[in-house]
Amino acid sequence: MTTTSALARLLKPVLPLAPEMSIADVADRLLTPEHKAFLSLPIVDAAGYPLGLVSRSALQDIFMQRFGRDLRGRHPVHEVMNPAPLIVSLDTSLEQAAKQITGQLQYPITEDFILIDAQGQYRGLGTVLDLLKAMEARIAQRNAVLRRALVDLKESQVQLVQSEKMASLGQMVAGVAHELNTPLGYVKNNVQLLRELSAPLFELAEAQAALADCLADPDCAEARLAMALDNAAKAREQAAPELLVEDLTQLFDDTLYGLQQIAELVVGLKDFARLDRAMSEEVDLNDCIRSALVIARNSIKDKAEAILQLGELPRIPCAPSQINQVLLNLLTNAAQAIEGFGQIRVKTWAEDAAVFISVQDSGRGMQAAVLARIFDPFFTTKPVGQGTGLGLSISFKIIQDHGGLIRVASEPGRGTRFLIRLPRPQAAALQRSA
Ligand SMILES: Nc1ncnc2c1ncn2[C@@H]1O[C@H](COP(=O)(O)OP(=O)(O)OP(=O)(O)O)[C@@H](O)[C@H]1O
Ligand SMILES: [Mg+2]
Repeated sequence: MTTTSALARLLKPVLPLAPEMSIADVADRLLTPEHKAFLSLPIVDAAGYPLGLVSRSALQDIFMQRFGRDLRGRHPVHEVMNPAPLIVSLDTSLEQAAKQITGQLQYPITEDFILIDAQGQYRGLGTVLDLLKAMEARIAQRNAVLRRALVDLKESQVQLVQSEKMASLGQMVAGVAHELNTPLGYVKNNVQLLRELSAPLFELAEAQAALADCLADPDCAEARLAMALDNAAKAREQAAPELLVEDLTQLFDDTLYGLQQIAELVVGLKDFARLDRAMSEEVDLNDCIRSALVIARNSIKDKAEAILQLGELPRIPCAPSQINQVLLNLLTNAAQAIEGFGQIRVKTWAEDAAVFISVQDSGRGMQAAVLARIFDPFFTTKPVGQGTGLGLSISFKIIQDHGGLIRVASEPGRGTRFLIRLPRPQAAALQRSA
């Protein structure tokens, strides 16, 4: 019978002793070169079942006594054997065997372990040193696998952060496209109306030009002059410019307003999505809030009134597009938590060492069990396809990377408040040097 288990590779097919063999013969055998590596030798009965182990140290104890060899050398070896040795079955896994052996091992280590087959018959000896070496190799192998897994995990985390960024970018682009559509629609209508309303003005200008030509021409016949006069009067009546003034002014104003809104959105989008050169950009966080609100307007406007209480803030070094991503996520979360119509209150203020942003909603709030998990990656209570559950875990990481803190307080039925604290590095440095 052969086996390819890890233990089988440790097996040394040592010839076992018969229990009746003399102590002196066993001692001699232990001195032979092929047995040098062993701390003990196995004793097996006639049917091949292990009876015990006789250890080198037990024999040494005898031979070190005065006349030890003479007095006991002829005694059968079973007198000095350990009748309860370490016995491990060959089909045991390496880990299990290591556990069993280290569990039973006594210090100092004076014996090897007996390996038996499935029938319980002796197959060979194993040494603790070999077992340790095998375990070490296995652990090294596992470590390599774990290291590889860690690298993979880090890579996929980077990809996840990237894809969440793309998802929020996509969401934002859809929102902005929607926002652009409204002013675009009425700018287009206004321009069409302006075109229709101004058509009679062109006719009037033409009629008046014809009249002016006639008046300037000494050869212009009476009849032609009369007709030109008549045409000009009719065109004037048609165009009624004095009535048009008000309408046209209004239309131009509205159109300009719409174009301004479009321009604002485009600037907001540019500000929002700009690629950060470095963390050291000095930013007014109030600008980030305004730009995130422009972008989130589409998802907020039917859910809540946004109330801003923005205090004066010192500029702080940060990556604005990342901070925008955090704010957008907090604002959309807040809007999504509101049933019916509510409020989202955004407040900022500065203290000596830090600036603070608070985003508070009047939404449904959270139970403690939900609250405890919201910063976990992939934790979401939203239906499949609506939330990835990455928003807050990424926000947490972004704020942490900025040396800041994000805290949350929530009460079911009353609402939720997120508080962000970002340090003011100069202030901190100044304080330290003072
Ligand atoms: N303002 C809030 N009010 C109530 N619950 C909230 C609020 N903000 C977050 N949560 C809870 O925390 C969970 C996790 O939020 P997170 O932003 O990480 O993911 P998500 O919003 O579910 O998905 P994603 O941000 O990817 O769209 C939400 O599913 C929700 O249950
Ligand atoms: Mg979210």
